[in-house]
Amino acid sequence: MKKIIVTGGAGFIGSHTVVELYNAGYEPIIIDNFSNSQKSVLAGLQNITGSAVKLFEGDCCNRDLLKKIFTEEENIDGIIHFAAHKAVSESVQNPLKYYRNNLNSLMALLEIMQNYNCSNFVFSSSCTVYGQPDKLPVTEVAPKKPAESPYGNTKKICEDIIEDVIKSNAELKIISLRYFNPIGAHASSLIGELPLGVPDNLVPYITQTAAGIREKLTIFGNDYDTSDGTCVRDYIHVIDLAKAHVKAFEYLNKQEDKTFYDVFNIGTGHGNSVKEIVETFQSANNVNLNYVVGKRREGDIEKIFADVDKATTLLNWKTELSLEQALIDAWNWQKALRK
Ligand code: UFG
Repeated sequence: MKKIIVTGGAGFIGSHTVVELYNAGYEPIIIDNFSNSQKSVLAGLQNITGSAVKLFEGDCCNRDLLKKIFTEEENIDGIIHFAAHKAVSESVQNPLKYYRNNLNSLMALLEIMQNYNCSNFVFSSSCTVYGQPDKLPVTEVAPKKPAESPYGNTKKICEDIIEDVIKSNAELKIISLRYFNPIGAHASSLIGELPLGVPDNLVPYITQTAAGIREKLTIFGNDYDTSDGTCVRDYIHVIDLAKAHVKAFEYLNKQEDKTFYDVFNIGTGHGNSVKEIVETFQSANNVNLNYVVGKRREGDIEKIFADVDKATTLLNWKTELSLEQALIDAWNWQKALRK
């Protein structure tokens, strides 16, 4: 079995990717410091996969830890790097925390890989690098825009670092996946999103409101230039997103050149407004949601959704799960958490 290190493998996208790697016959090895995840995820993973997933607890900025892992574990086929701070608002309050962690971890990982002749690397990037695109659906060749937050800037700078390392002819094969908005949970309700404190993101806020943890959802603005005035995003089921990482790995393994880099959008190709998400959540789950319309949230872009032709053609990947299914799975996960 090929060993793949999954940094942040106890997190939301990371844990679902661990399952899909396992299903595809890989041996995932998690590195996680549990700064924004919980150890209970490991039991969920064990339940789903039927075996204990190997874990190294610690920080992937820690070069000694990385050295220990690469020495102990022979023949590591590559790394999928999820571990990063990701709260947009916190990054505005504490930018150094974001630059220090998100940039250092990338550099430490790329360095250790070169030292141990490990070449395959998949990086978690974000559609945030496009800002508000001039043309929709947005393709990978669209220009990158100045970031709206330090968090967004770390994703942009990480992509720049990767490009420079590749230009130096380092023997590394890298793919950056630019995620759109991941939602949903595993169908078993054994793993899902575990936001700490008050959620920033729409779907966890919706499920917590439906569960009575939050009083009401506030829709941030209904005066945008969209069909119903609320912002439009491309919401993708986390399982479909997780599977894209397996396809990306397979694609890297097929590359014969020693130095390789490419970027792919990973979304559904469809935009949905905030109101549509609220309505679909209510109808798919047969629950009523208490919500009001409030002011715009600072830094929100109006509308974005992906062109996914490149991933469909080159990675041989496409989404399989509907928006309804994602919202059903998200609600089932929330209900399982209350038990
Ligand atoms: N929204 C609300 N009410 C809420 C929460 C969100 O109306 O309580 C709206 C937002 O205004 C936005 C939409 O729901 O229009 C989606 O918001 P999210 O916070 O769920 O997602 P974003 O698109 O703002 O953020 C996502 C990722 C970030 C990333 C950003 C840009 O979560 O990590 O995309 O790529 F930086």
